[in-house]
Amino acid sequence: MPPTEHWWRDAVIYQVYPRSFADSDGDGMGDLPGITARLPQLRDLGVDAVWLSPFYPSPQHDAGYDVADYRSVDPRFGDLGAADKLIAEAHDLDLKVIIDLVPNHTSTEHEWFRAALAAGPGSPERARYIFRDQPANSWQSVFGGSAWEQVADGQWYLHLFDVSQPDLDWGNPEVRAEFVGILRFWLDRGVDGFRVDVAHGLVKESSLAEWTGPTEILKDPDPDAARPPMWDQEGVHDIYREWRAVLDEYPGPRILVAEAWVTPEERLARYVRPDEMHQAFNFPFLVASWQAALRREVIDSSLAATSAVGAPTTWVLSNHDVVRHATRFGYPPVEGRMLGIGAGDPQPDIGLGLRRARAASLQMLALPGSAYLYQGEELGLPEHTTLPDDHRQDPTWERSGHTERGRDGCRVPIPWEADAPSYGFGPSDASWLPQPASWAEYALDRQRDVPGSTWELYRAALDLRRSHGLGTSTLTWAESSEEVLAFRVSDVLVLTNFGSAPVSLPAGVRVLLSSEPLVDGQVPADVTVWAQV
Ligand code: NOJ
Ligand code: MG
Repeated sequence: MPPTEHWWRDAVIYQVYPRSFADSDGDGMGDLPGITARLPQLRDLGVDAVWLSPFYPSPQHDAGYDVADYRSVDPRFGDLGAADKLIAEAHDLDLKVIIDLVPNHTSTEHEWFRAALAAGPGSPERARYIFRDQPANSWQSVFGGSAWEQVADGQWYLHLFDVSQPDLDWGNPEVRAEFVGILRFWLDRGVDGFRVDVAHGLVKESSLAEWTGPTEILKDPDPDAARPPMWDQEGVHDIYREWRAVLDEYPGPRILVAEAWVTPEERLARYVRPDEMHQAFNFPFLVASWQAALRREVIDSSLAATSAVGAPTTWVLSNHDVVRHATRFGYPPVEGRMLGIGAGDPQPDIGLGLRRARAASLQMLALPGSAYLYQGEELGLPEHTTLPDDHRQDPTWERSGHTERGRDGCRVPIPWEADAPSYGFGPSDASWLPQPASWAEYALDRQRDVPGSTWELYRAALDLRRSHGLGTSTLTWAESSEEVLAFRVSDVLVLTNFGSAPVSLPAGVRVLLSSEPLVDGQVPADVTVWAQV
């Protein structure tokens, strides 16, 4: 591999959601051989790395974020040989591989939890989890309902997520040692990094103090509110310092990426201090709605917070936990995160959503730092907003008493070929969530080599981003008003029109790329343009 010491500082990292990316065996569930076979297409798109959501053995009560064995592969997805092959082929294509590490909780089917149940109260096996004789507080699970569950002998265990996801006790040295071993297991197999699930949750306030405020971490948290005792406690930082030292022993660099729903951004930046993680997802950017002032504000505050600690900023618009941005932007602006959408809910303006999504993505891909893409966004894929409720699998739907539809709508298997069964997701019709009838037009084979398609827009943007060094450049604002945001990066002017009337470009610039065609040389509404100055 070429010298890539700081590859992560401006990398474009593509999130693969293994169950929904590509199915090699026709069982309707995506798998590792399916991913491996499609890696060349990601190379063609021009990304630098892939991040894989969990593929470990799991009862799949939370789509694999309930891990039963951290050192293996769920037979639904393949085996360790298939993981090795995926890593090797990615590296041959000069793609880095980041895997998902889920340290806050195991599955109830993990051997540790089985042993904890068998060994009984007071045992060292129970001390790996958070067991109490009574619920220590009235904390609520992020997915709804109580965060405490009683077992047969009368004790209770804490689960911040699903009842099948018992929280580990990170005060226990055995837990810490085990995860260092897991890191090494995968580092030895060649992975380039870890996305750390619920990175702000591992350590709880030591008295498990009462908290009756929202436990919910996936909505926009209020920066002024008191910090809940289950999130963003000081002790988490020691863990990441220890992990960083382990990663630094390996040729690399290998990276750690925090999934931490923490505000304000100065607190989030503490996860990416020089001896901790490399990156943290920028959720304030993700939740900002389509308004010039809001987007400028979040770009400024993100750049300031990370530069204070010397870390690159990251940017992200979609992932497997949120409504896809091509759909979010098809609604009037909402505060914070949108929840799942059902057939009976108001439906988005698909055309407007896609137009704004393309403009937002083109703006994002010019920003200095590292950008995350979620599989399907390069196809302009919307959320499945009419998924029949009886197909829903996200535990949120049941645990919220059918009040929150949850995240299935952004997890539907993606379309590769317009005219193939399951749109080429796999060799059969099977698809673990049904795909909407309208998805043929989004298929990759309808977009490749088609001028103006969303896939070609992303490909061209990634190419120009690299050749103009945008990811390592410094941003300077050129213009900002309620209607227009414009900034300079490297020798490129990036202008987005948030207003309704067309706007002109400065004289003498040469248009490199635009999210929609210009009209009479002007930038129409909801369009981003890159122009060489
Ligand atoms: C965050 C993951 O992204 C989400 O999908 C999962 O449900 C929770 N963490 C719990 O692991
Ligand atoms: Mg399969």
